[in-house]
Amino acid sequence: MQKTLLSGIKPTGELHIGNYFGAMRQFVDFQDKYRSFIFIANYHALTSVANSELLRKLSLEIAMDFLAIGLDPKKTTLFLQSDVPEVTELAWIFNNITTVPYLMRAHAFKDAEAKNKEVNVGLFDYPILMAADILIYGSDVVPVGQDQKQHVEIARDTAQKFNRIFGNTFKVPEPIILDEVKTVIGTDGRKMSKSYGNGIGLFASDEEIKKAVMSIPTDSKSVNEPKDPTKCNVFAFHELLGGKDLPELKKRYLSGTIGYKESKDILVERMKAFIGPMRKRREEIAKDPDAVLKILRDGGEVVRKEAKKMMKEVREKVGLI
Ligand code: ADP
Ligand code: TRP
Repeated sequence: MQKTLLSGIKPTGELHIGNYFGAMRQFVDFQDKYRSFIFIANYHALTSVANSELLRKLSLEIAMDFLAIGLDPKKTTLFLQSDVPEVTELAWIFNNITTVPYLMRAHAFKDAEAKNKEVNVGLFDYPILMAADILIYGSDVVPVGQDQKQHVEIARDTAQKFNRIFGNTFKVPEPIILDEVKTVIGTDGRKMSKSYGNGIGLFASDEEIKKAVMSIPTDSKSVNEPKDPTKCNVFAFHELLGGKDLPELKKRYLSGTIGYKESKDILVERMKAFIGPMRKRREEIAKDPDAVLKILRDGGEVVRKEAKKMMKEVREKVGLI
């Protein structure tokens, strides 16, 4: 039997190419190899979005995004997290075998604290709801970006702890993190992130692409000076897009036969060629939102059956009868 792959993404804003190369692309690449469950983490989004209309809009949009990048509903079960309310029940059960100091070590909480942000209980408990997402379907593998690795470890710990206390119930999942990508750097050299505004939108217009690429800071080396490609943010984007011209470009950097302006111009064209076709597909999909909602509903029905089965077992094991 095929192994089960599960991953989710929060509908909290427009996607950038960091989301794509760090996480989403893997979902498309893996859909033939695994039984794939991909969901829109709208319960998780509630930790930061308190606007019903906005949450609904973002959730539908991200579903369209997924379909546009090539998720095929015949191969991947795409669904809304909230169509499986059983995960919140499981999270509650996990809460009772999880200690506060343990969750205080989680990055999302620590970051919010360090920035003096108000931390709601939902944010604090975020990793436990994520553990429930992962464990309720008996997931084998969880493809995520580097920054979510700790959360998958928390899911593993939680599975093991539950199994120890109540008897073997949950599979211990493995994270999948693409080595060659890890963290995608934004146009300002920091991690590309929605919250830093340093991203290139996954469906950006040609104008937006140009603006973002031109804003990448470089040092002041002139055209004829040799340049270290590993220290150039523009080159980092070239590498991300890959392609057969990369070795030649690298040579030109090292030999001082390319300036940053030309490198950026080439990057703009390559970025347009990468984003353009996806943007067109996205526009087609957006014409029929009802079809997208149906895909989500159908997907939710499929996975909820499995979640219910697991919850029946869990309820028995903990004595909720
Ligand atoms: P953001 O940091 O922009 O708010 P999210 O936290 O919503 O992004 O991340 C969604 C998914 O995309 C996660 O799996 C995350 O690991 C991945 N991801 C986000 N930013 C990057 C990045 N710069 N490089 C690689 N992967 C990323
Ligand atoms: N925390 C993930 C993110 O920020 C989203 C997420 C929620 C998730 N539950 C998950 C990812 C379960 C993988 C598995 O993107």
